Amino acid sequence: MTWAFGKAILLGEHAVVYGYPALAGAIDCRLRAHFIAEPGDGALRLRVPAWNLDVKRADEHVVGTALDAIVRAVGAALNIREPHLSESLSGRIDIDTELPAAAGLGSSAALSVALSRVLSGALAPARLPLDNDQIAAIANCGERRFHDNPSGVDVALATRGGLGVFVRGQGLEPLSAPPLALAVGLSGQERRTADLVGRVAQARSQAPTRTDAQLAILGAAARSGRAALERGDLAELGRLMARAHATLAELGLSTSVLDRLVAEAERAGALGAKLTGAGGGGAVIALARDKDHAQAICDTWHRSGHPGFACSLGARP
Ligand code: MEV
Repeated sequence: MTWAFGKAILLGEHAVVYGYPALAGAIDCRLRAHFIAEPGDGALRLRVPAWNLDVKRADEHVVGTALDAIVRAVGAALNIREPHLSESLSGRIDIDTELPAAAGLGSSAALSVALSRVLSGALAPARLPLDNDQIAAIANCGERRFHDNPSGVDVALATRGGLGVFVRGQGLEPLSAPPLALAVGLSGQERRTADLVGRVAQARSQAPTRTDAQLAILGAAARSGRAALERGDLAELGRLMARAHATLAELGLSTSVLDRLVAEAERAGALGAKLTGAGGGGAVIALARDKDHAQAICDTWHRSGHPGFACSLGARP
């Protein structure tokens, strides 16, 4: 049995794909993977009841191909080849999670990390487990099947937890700030991260000066947000989040439902609220004063028909 975290990006989504920093943290909403050895046809099966998912390795389904990529990468890291690899993995993996899928909360990265961990444990129960860098490298092989061009921020947080600044190619620099109280509101609009990342790439090719300036604003907000967090200035962090939402909306990444959830959170006294992750649907986050305030913001969303949950950002193993 292994697990991985979901994540929320406070500042810097999309800009992080282009080398700017992102300020982000793990949320205390986990995904657990359980491997059960079963003699059979040798085809590894993966079940995620919460997402209505039941696939086999290498099925013509994005999750099947991601599972296959992770099996191969774990086999390569442990130097276990076919047919021994498939024989040792005859069985099924059951996933148990409260993390919503396709909502910008890092569900595919959490799945990739938990699979990498559970498979390495199943293949080498008597050996030292792979370290976090190896797990993240393997998980990124799966994550690339979900998103064409992931920056790696989701996998880094799913693996390590905590709160930090992520820069593509450099990894996650942990910050020692205390966990933050967040309300997460769900729009109910599922979307593909790859499509939204593609939309920004298209905007860059059509209007490079304007789009690059918007990405630079998002990157600068992540830097300022880090400084605000380090001096405990949550009011400033909230203001930066509100401005980042406006910039993300200018980039065409918000929706009317996300804008409404942000406005409702602000009316409920959130220090700041914005879409999180790729946008185009998915989730919004609202920075709250404490856990009770986060719950009050969620209650406001519930009254207008949108589910949400209070959580802590910066969850650690
Ligand atoms: C997805 O959680 C965040 C994006 O910046 C994409 C990425 O970093 O890979 C939109």
